[in-house]
Amino acid sequence: MNTGVKTYDENEKPQFSETTMAEVKRVIGLFPEGKQKSALIRILHIAEEEFGGWLSVPTMNYVAEILNIQPIEVYEVATFYTMFNIDKPGKVVLEVCRTGPCMLVGSDNIIEHIENKLNVKVGETTADGMFTLKTAECLGACGYGPMLQCGKTYHEHLTTEKVDELLDTLRKEHSTSSNS
Ligand code: FES
Repeated sequence: MNTGVKTYDENEKPQFSETTMAEVKRVIGLFPEGKQKSALIRILHIAEEEFGGWLSVPTMNYVAEILNIQPIEVYEVATFYTMFNIDKPGKVVLEVCRTGPCMLVGSDNIIEHIENKLNVKVGETTADGMFTLKTAECLGACGYGPMLQCGKTYHEHLTTEKVDELLDTLRKEHSTSSNS
């Protein structure tokens, strides 16, 4: 989800680019008059992509302003769904499924292994800003657990060895890319 995120200064008032605003208006226009809140989730995805891969309070307030709804209505949605980052994430976000079927085949071990390997707890970002570890509820790949999502890619049938390889690969891939 934070793959290829753009540079974003969180101290600036958020402002969609002209092109993005046109898309936002198109999405809002898909819903009947007075039901613009129905566009919220899609617009939060757009905002995350536009503003550095996460939803700061000013970003959520900006979305509320555009949809003409209360900021609390945006906070409620953004904090409910684990797919949204409400804290600035690392370059790479790992979301490990922890729901029953994955848990039965060892997701707890995978989570613990990543915590130990990266020296973070779930919800934290490594000191070098490279990895953020999150957990997620069922990601729809129950027959392939334990599994994790990284960006738009699923990594399935995980073992601790596979996780080690994955972390090494991701670190190499992202060590030269920027994130702000
Ligand atoms: S329980 Fe993990 S993907 Fe469904």
